[in-house]
Amino acid sequence: MTVLPIRQYPDPVLRARCTPVVDFGPDLRRLVEDMIQTMHDAPGVGLAAPQVGVELRVAVVDATAGVDPGAVRVLVNPEILDTAGVDTETEGCLSIPDFTEQVTRPASVRVAARDLEGRAYEMDADELEARAIQHELDHLDGILFVDRLRGLRRQRARSFLRRLRSPEPAVAGGN
Ligand code: NI
Repeated sequence: MTVLPIRQYPDPVLRARCTPVVDFGPDLRRLVEDMIQTMHDAPGVGLAAPQVGVELRVAVVDATAGVDPGAVRVLVNPEILDTAGVDTETEGCLSIPDFTEQVTRPASVRVAARDLEGRAYEMDADELEARAIQHELDHLDGILFVDRLRGLRRQRARSFLRRLRSPEPAVAGGN
């Protein structure tokens, strides 16, 4: 298994609309194993394929950030079937280092996806796992968590992202 480099904003791959997986072969298994390793190494609670430069509908989520090996979820061609409630919590993204903000999302989700062998399954998630799944599924459509912000939070995100797009040297001291 390999720790892959994580693509960072404004890398255009983060805006790609990813295509569904049709080949459930060894390449997919290798990609998912590397993504899990990369997520745990970061450490993060989720990672989507475009974050490692692959435009496929694949995401991994581990709300325990590596503490419980059984907690890793592999989501291939995932879809949200239903949501309930609403919740606001602090969120960040491995592709936008050093920026966090409060994001409002549904509190729980029901998801349909396929596993590494292509078998369809459904799962329910709440709390951090639900948030991570929604965040990662957004990545598969080129949506970043900062796109979910409104008002003052959105303004803060925009000025932060502007600096990432055109880094300037720090302003020299003085009045
Ligand atoms: Ni992210």
